[in-house]
Amino acid sequence: MSEVKQIRAIKGVRDILPPESVAWNRVERAAHEVFAGFGYGEIRLPIFEQTELFARSVGFDTDVVGKEMYTFPDHQLWDLEALKTNIILRRPSIDQPLAISLFIEQLDQLIGRSTEALELGEMPRTSDNQRALEQIRAGRDVLCQSLVPKTSTIDQPRFDLYVQHVHTSAATLTFGERVSLRPEATASVCRAYIEHGMQTLPGNVKLYYMGPMFRRERPQKGRYRQFYQIGAEVLGQSDAPGIDAELIEMLMAFFGKVGLEGAALQINSIGCKECRPKYVELLRAELVKVKDKLGADSQRRIETNPLRVLDSKVPEEQAIIEKLPRISEHLCAECRDHFTEVRRQLDLRGIAYEQNWRLVRGLDYYMRTTFEITAPGLGSQNAVCGGGRYDGLVELLGGPPTKGIGFAIGEDRLMLSLRKDVTVLLAGVGMKATPGNVSVSVEDARVDVFIVWMGASAQAAAIALARKLRDAGVKVEVPAVEMKFGKALGLADKLGAKRAVIIGEDEIAAGKFTVKRLSDAVQKSLSEAELVDELKAS
Ligand code: HAM
Repeated sequence: MSEVKQIRAIKGVRDILPPESVAWNRVERAAHEVFAGFGYGEIRLPIFEQTELFARSVGFDTDVVGKEMYTFPDHQLWDLEALKTNIILRRPSIDQPLAISLFIEQLDQLIGRSTEALELGEMPRTSDNQRALEQIRAGRDVLCQSLVPKTSTIDQPRFDLYVQHVHTSAATLTFGERVSLRPEATASVCRAYIEHGMQTLPGNVKLYYMGPMFRRERPQKGRYRQFYQIGAEVLGQSDAPGIDAELIEMLMAFFGKVGLEGAALQINSIGCKECRPKYVELLRAELVKVKDKLGADSQRRIETNPLRVLDSKVPEEQAIIEKLPRISEHLCAECRDHFTEVRRQLDLRGIAYEQNWRLVRGLDYYMRTTFEITAPGLGSQNAVCGGGRYDGLVELLGGPPTKGIGFAIGEDRLMLSLRKDVTVLLAGVGMKATPGNVSVSVEDARVDVFIVWMGASAQAAAIALARKLRDAGVKVEVPAVEMKFGKALGLADKLGAKRAVIIGEDEIAAGKFTVKRLSDAVQKSLSEAELVDELKAS
């Protein structure tokens, strides 16, 4: 056994191997096709953004931002970061001249390096940073006096005060931006909308995206730390309920196209900034009355975000929650009308739904319409898609007043739910899948033609022939080294090739290739042109 430590994928992330990746590509292709049909254009977004973007839009107090983001300082000044931490942790006392000297030495290093970094533009030249450095310098000068015992007027309390002063100033130094791996993409779409002045584009701006998102959640079936979303957003001046309904229609059309069975749509309206705060206060007041009967999480949420209590899956809390006041009875007239019209617009499109007054969603930016789609075969993580309206989010990020609505499909969950259908998808591209499973085996990585070559000149002919066949759309495998005939045919069979093309000295001399059908070993001798024609057709 090798003693070299094996490196494995990080907890909660995984590889998507062929042939499963073939099914993923199919699903993604279906999204491109369906969304294009509804007039959406693809936006490719960065995987990481300033942390503040997510904090401001998704919300500081949400689980996603508060607990689950992968955040790191985006700068190279690690030495300064370490020095700063070191300084903050040191508490020299006035009777320890050696410790004081060391402390001052570190302050000097911090001041020197930071000043240099500021000048070089490596560190943000903010007024906060400049002020912090001045204060550290002033504190350092006072602390120096304690090193001259006879003339020093500094006593322990004053000394401590200055150390504290230096700590506080050092803590405010920032050496660069904090960035986060994106936990979702709606915030990025809004950022891009503002950055590119998309409000000047005609009509509603309809965008879709797909790609990985990152949340440090506890991994389980259907829940990963790197997961994939396929999402779409509509931004513009109108919040017409027909927009909400058409977005959902598109989603259902997509699910129909990929063959998802049993998708169930739930919808709700969570009101606007006029009516929701009043409802939240009412809910809080009612929750306080039953606080003792609730678990720790819900008790905490009474303070932080009472709406989230409605999300609780704790069995003992269900009967209590059912008796709580419902938002549908507390919507303002505009929100009530909007929601009624959204439902009528869904009916108009023949889309079935269930109203779920407890559907509040976990991100702060939502208002009015919220929806989720569940699918079978997913266990407890059964939401395959979530979305809603977020009028005002663009404004919150510094853009013009804008209405918005969108959704994101959890692609990993969609694939899990489609699993039984993956066999069908794979069959469509000429692949086999293990029944009920899309686990990977070499046999599934199918090729059409395997070229067996023997001798150096045959290799050159094999390479040239493979190029022609591939150009004609045939999947070809050419061994990189010469193989024994029997072994080559065995491998061709295992790879699922239908035919083997045999090139040896005789074939080169005759200018013909031997083609062997692997199912019944029937052989033909064909010229190159005949061969390309024959294989292209099969
Ligand atoms: P979300 O509900 O947080 O909404 O996520 C949408 C979907 O992503 C979920 O329904 C689920 O299928 C999938 N998902 C979320 N977390 C994980 C995970 N850890 N592992 C696997 N799948 C996961 C949003 O992200 C919003 N940005 C949706 C949106 C777009 N709202 C308006 N526009």
